[in-house]
Amino acid sequence: MNRPHPHLAPAAPIAPTAPMARVGTQFLSAHDAARLVQHQGLPQTLAGLAKAIELDFRRWPDFDKSPRTARHAPEGVIELMPIADEHLYSFKFVNGHPGNTAAGLSTVMAFGVLADMHTGTPLLVSELTLSTALRTAATSAMAARTLARPGSQVMAIIGNGAQSAFQAIAFQHLVGITTVRLFDIDLEATQQLMHRLGGTGLHIRACHSVDEALHGADIVTTLTADKTQATIVQDHQVRPGMHLNAVGGDCPGKTELDAHILRRSRVFVEYEPQTRQEGELQQMEGDFPVTELWRVLTGQAFGRQQAHDITVFDSVGFALEDFSTLRYLHGCASMAGLLRPLDLIAQPDNPKDLMGWMLRAPATHGH
Ligand SMILES: NC(=O)c1ccc[n+]([C@@H]2O[C@H](COP(=O)([O-])OP(=O)(O)OC[C@H]3O[C@@H](n4cnc5c(N)ncnc54)[C@H](O)[C@@H]3O)[C@@H](O)[C@H]2O)c1
Repeated sequence: MNRPHPHLAPAAPIAPTAPMARVGTQFLSAHDAARLVQHQGLPQTLAGLAKAIELDFRRWPDFDKSPRTARHAPEGVIELMPIADEHLYSFKFVNGHPGNTAAGLSTVMAFGVLADMHTGTPLLVSELTLSTALRTAATSAMAARTLARPGSQVMAIIGNGAQSAFQAIAFQHLVGITTVRLFDIDLEATQQLMHRLGGTGLHIRACHSVDEALHGADIVTTLTADKTQATIVQDHQVRPGMHLNAVGGDCPGKTELDAHILRRSRVFVEYEPQTRQEGELQQMEGDFPVTELWRVLTGQAFGRQQAHDITVFDSVGFALEDFSTLRYLHGCASMAGLLRPLDLIAQPDNPKDLMGWMLRAPATHGH
């Protein structure tokens, strides 16, 4: 039997009335996550996620944090991203394989689990491929709201693959971007993104080079996928006052920005120990100064101080963003009736007689 959990579904009105020992596991499929976003609206979902993520960033000390663990292959990486507060635990499984699209697979694929810290019960198993794109865009926009110059309207997007449309819509609705200037080495990707953004009200310009895309840009989002220390944006292309949202450099040996840009910027990160290994920061000395974003959100550190500051959000993706996303999805999908029970955990009537349950299960399951 499935019962609501006390630390989930912030918007759900039903209070738990019984002990949690037999909370069931629920499942949110990829299709149902897509239906949820269609039902709520993409801008509304991005706004809801940004709010959920910001609220959790503001209570940063409540979380037991660690850098993610990664297993590397020449083609890419598989990562596990755990985090917990006093009541809930989550992890995400995610890969990054830049060559995948040539084989018809996504570069980034993910799923995640939310569990009850008090009993260890897995409460939710959810798709996180779509949701990673949503939460990354929401986090980027949340950071830019604090770090970009007020009144920023023009954003360059370098790398026009799966994540890019979500970033464009998030920055349009949460930051106030009105124009996007697009560049990708794959012309087809840019054309597809232009098609995807048609009818959104954004002014869209396809560009032939990074130089051209950055012309007049207030914000630069880099979203390229290549497992190499690339210099997608050169130092001379970055002008005072710009905000750089560096998303694609997110594992050891994978960067996008010229190190000189960082030297003349104020650099903000999610979780410093992880970003030092994985972000643009891997190019810098160990004591290169950075500020964790949560400190800006809670008023403990300055964000942008002057109009001509160059700010960099060196984003690698942190487990807390997925924790917030799983909670948000659980609440919204539950209210929309999109969660399904998942027969994941054996629950014998007598917990000490697992074998008895096994012997009876085939005959009783489904009857
Ligand atoms: N920081 C985070 O939280 C986070 C979250 C999700 C994904 N990512 C990263 O974001 C990147 C983009 O992910 P995606 O799912 O959109 O990948 P994708 O493969 O769908 O798209 C990447 C695009 O980058 C383009 N590209 C590669 N090299 C380029 C170059 N030198 N100049 C211009 N364009 C170039 C490719 O042609 C492709 O269209 C990946 O590196 C991924 O690992 C980061």
